[in-house]
Amino acid sequence: MAIRRRMYVHVTGNVIDGTVSLKGDTIYAFFVAPDKQGSGIGSDLLSCMEEVAKSLEIPCLKVDASITAKKFYEVHGYETVREEWDGNYGTVITMKKEL
Ligand SMILES: CC(C)(COP(=O)(O)OP(=O)(O)OC[C@H]1O[C@@H](n2cnc3c(N)ncnc32)[C@H](O)[C@@H]1OP(=O)(O)O)[C@@H](O)C(=O)NCCC(=O)NCCS
Repeated sequence: MAIRRRMYVHVTGNVIDGTVSLKGDTIYAFFVAPDKQGSGIGSDLLSCMEEVAKSLEIPCLKVDASITAKKFYEVHGYETVREEWDGNYGTVITMKKEL
């Protein structure tokens, strides 16, 4: 996966406590360690991803968000494009943000 995508991690001390990746114009594998959620790491990673996308002249970022992350993306200016049911992942919410 790391060969096909740009992968980024957030490190505190010597511990990796967040990951995110970018393939084309789409965000994947966005996770913050459960005991660190709500402390700003996700916002830092998302800002980093948006700066990377801008530097690559990507005009619009997309993500297939889980229901639990919808509010997080809304806080950061993402809007819902569609919601679909997926047999493996449940409700998947495709969201986007013009950069
Ligand atoms: C979604 C996730 C990446 C956000 O990272 P985070 O470090 O917890 O987020 P932050 O601390 O930067 O939060 C930023 C804002 O979003 C809000 N927020 C974050 N996660 C939220 C959630 N699940 N539900 C509602 N609001 C949320 C925070 O309250 C905060 O708002 P505030 O600044 O007004 O208080 C992280 O919670 C996570 O890994 N969740 C489980 C996996 C997941 O859902 N990944 C995304 C798949 S698309």
